[in-house]
Amino acid sequence: MRLRTSSVAALACLTSALPRALSEVFDDPSQLPDDRTYDYVVIGSGAGGGTVASRLSASYNVLLLEAGISDEGQMDLMIPARDIFTGPGTKYDWNFTTVAQPGLNNRSIAYIRGKVLGGTTNLNYMCFNRAPKGDWDSLANITGDQGWSWDEMQDYMKRVERITDPADGRSLDGRIDLDIHGNSGPLSLTLNGWEDNIESLIVKSTTEQSEEFKYNEDHNSGYMLGLGYTQSTLLHGARDSSATSQIWPYVGDHSLDVILNAQATKLINTGTEGGIPAFRGVEFARSSQSTRYTVKARKEVIVSAGAVGSPQLLLLSGIGPAAELQQVGITAIVDSPHVGKNFQDHPLLSNSFSVDTKGAMNNDDIMRDPALQAKFFQEWAASRTGPFTVGSPNILGFFRVPKDSDVFQNATDPTSGPDSPHFEFLPFSGFVSFVEPPPTTGHYMSVLTALLAPVSRGSLVLKSNNPFDKPIIDPGLLNTEVDRHVMREAVKSVRRWAMSAAWDGYILGEYGDLAAAQTDAEIEAYVRSHTATVHHASSSLAMGSWNSTNAVLNPDLTVKNTKGLRVVDLSAAPFVPQAHPLGTVYIIAERAADLIKNDALKLQPPLHSEPILSSALGRLARLTTSQPILSPFNIQGVLDAVARIV
Ligand SMILES: Cc1cc2nc3c(=O)[nH]c(=O)nc-3n(C[C@H](O)[C@H](O)[C@H](O)COP(=O)(O)OP(=O)(O)OC[C@H]3O[C@@H](n4cnc5c(N)ncnc54)[C@H](O)[C@@H]3O)c2cc1C
Ligand SMILES: *[C@@H]1O[C@H](CO)[C@@H](O)[C@H](O)[C@H]1NC(C)=O
Ligand SMILES: *[C@@H]1O[C@H](CO)[C@@H](O)[C@H](O)[C@H]1NC(C)=O
Ligand SMILES: *[C@@H]1O[C@H](CO)[C@@H](O)[C@H](O)[C@H]1NC(C)=O
Ligand SMILES: *[C@@H]1O[C@H](CO)[C@@H](O)[C@H](O)[C@H]1NC(C)=O
Ligand SMILES: *[C@@H]1O[C@H](CO)[C@@H](O)[C@H](O)[C@H]1NC(C)=O
Repeated sequence: MRLRTSSVAALACLTSALPRALSEVFDDPSQLPDDRTYDYVVIGSGAGGGTVASRLSASYNVLLLEAGISDEGQMDLMIPARDIFTGPGTKYDWNFTTVAQPGLNNRSIAYIRGKVLGGTTNLNYMCFNRAPKGDWDSLANITGDQGWSWDEMQDYMKRVERITDPADGRSLDGRIDLDIHGNSGPLSLTLNGWEDNIESLIVKSTTEQSEEFKYNEDHNSGYMLGLGYTQSTLLHGARDSSATSQIWPYVGDHSLDVILNAQATKLINTGTEGGIPAFRGVEFARSSQSTRYTVKARKEVIVSAGAVGSPQLLLLSGIGPAAELQQVGITAIVDSPHVGKNFQDHPLLSNSFSVDTKGAMNNDDIMRDPALQAKFFQEWAASRTGPFTVGSPNILGFFRVPKDSDVFQNATDPTSGPDSPHFEFLPFSGFVSFVEPPPTTGHYMSVLTALLAPVSRGSLVLKSNNPFDKPIIDPGLLNTEVDRHVMREAVKSVRRWAMSAAWDGYILGEYGDLAAAQTDAEIEAYVRSHTATVHHASSSLAMGSWNSTNAVLNPDLTVKNTKGLRVVDLSAAPFVPQAHPLGTVYIIAERAADLIKNDALKLQPPLHSEPILSSALGRLARLTTSQPILSPFNIQGVLDAVARIV
């Protein structure tokens, strides 16, 4: 167990007669003291759960359950350049695999999900987008709640973020439009703080009068098209995750308890309210063999286990398609046919070129040379500068298929608006492939292309009623003709870009299978055999309008036909954002916290807005499966203890 020194902790230690005040991090479910109750129980500490837990715990007692381990002291999570080593198959990864993907020639691929405090924000590549204006306006249209529109969400977008200085102290001028950003939010955003050898060439390519490859000063303005600087979740040269931005800073100040290694195994049906089943309890355990514990939420349970974990938990709890649940021996409490359906993700393809770096170092050199790696690690450790501060391309590009393309001749354009991108470029100065090992000689540039507005939909289904069995994950990558066609267009766009004068003398030629793929049929075969994923799992518990029967969630993120239950993570987005999705999750969670607090105020105001008093005065109790225990509550003891401190 770990206790942060703070006034709350000090108060708790002063009197053994009192229940300990909240604000502790426990390593095991068995360590939770017997005498605590919570207003809210949040499941999962990723972008969604971390944000909601930190915001709510400013005024309410919150318990955060996280299935994974602590992120503390884990260098691979802290060092941005080590992000490619955070998964798959690590102690922070759920170790999932997809089912065979027909769009990828039936390949099954590793499906990385963070299992650690901070969730996938501790494993990802840190690129932060708010998503295009069209996404938010579509969300408002789909839900019938204008509160989700781009204009209405401005305040929440700013509340998330704080722009900080990049590791190399470079100027932000012309690279981030400070006027549109927030400056006091918990999450640090900045430019990647080390200039690689292709950055200036990419900038040069934007000056060649091409509308397609124009420069965009700030992708987070609502207008994303063009090439511009990546804004990353970095602070002083290290990763800023939802653990470092939302959780650790508040432990000790907010009424926030965290239990690590605590996997929610079931949402407990705590009765009916007005004929509707309520789910204000959670069962959890460390592993399949260990003791199961339960905890109740006085107000709500908030499921933030991500686009895989959240539908899995609802299904295990009897909220899902009744017939499908019956097949795994679960009786439906709420027959909700779309739980786990509509699953979406962004396919990712790497397109490699042979290049002449003219003696400049690129990532191929670093990957092949342990001495260089040691040198840059030492630089990072000593001053948090250098190439190890960078975990993503310094510049990203967002594009639409050309107007004269025939892609949408027979299909509806799937983007959220005429300015929303169909695909993205992620240019890496080095070799990247998902299907072949890196060459041992030569220099390369890989322009990864991500399909941002897929039509394809997959699913998440239970394999059994055992919560410790991995679910059946089908992201449906490239399983529609139109998606494969758009990915082909992305490859053609990369080829046009490679013709820019800026690359004269740098790009020597296309590498490997890309070079051989010339006809449309050949490009399609190349796309199918080389594509993987950016791991942007999304939309498996889609929000819809209040009267929609095609949605799982209401516009306020409550689960339809239930009481006391909400979902706050990327599973709630009705379509995968046409951008890196992390920003969308943080932003949705900021509004979710307000929606939740407003609902609580309608019922009854919080006891105290002061965190210390609210945690000390909160009714503290805990339920075990067999035996609810409510501890006696001693107000005078608390007040005496406060008086002794002051
Ligand atoms: C390799 C990789 C690179 C990526 N790069 C980027 C990027 O550059 N930019 C970007 O925008 N996005 C990126 N993403 C995606 C992004 O990180 C996710 O979309 C985002 O973190 C989703 O947030 P979330 O809150 O929905 O879920 P998560 O962050 O996945 O959090 C879910 C949490 O719930 C926990 N959990 C699950 N089940 C249970 C349970 N039953 N009980 C208790 N806890 C549970 C998990 O352990 C996890 O901590 C990347 C993802 C990967 C895998
Ligand atoms: C994932 O698999 C690897 C290799 O088997 C293992 O070491 C790791 O502990 C697993 N991750 C988790 C979270 O169990
Ligand atoms: C993929 O598997 C399905 C079902 O087994 C099969 O019909 C199909 O031909 C396979 N596709 C490829 C490209 O192997
Ligand atoms: C939202 O709906 C309005 C009215 O139907 C429509 O004019 C607008 O184009 C829609 N916006 C988006 C982004 O779908
Ligand atoms: C659209 O449909 C027509 C008629 O079936 C077909 O000839 C054409 O190839 C299709 N276009 C695309 C891009 O699929
Ligand atoms: C829902 O209700 C509104 C208002 O009653 C109505 O206009 C709309 O068509 C209904 N259906 C959906 C899917 O929103």
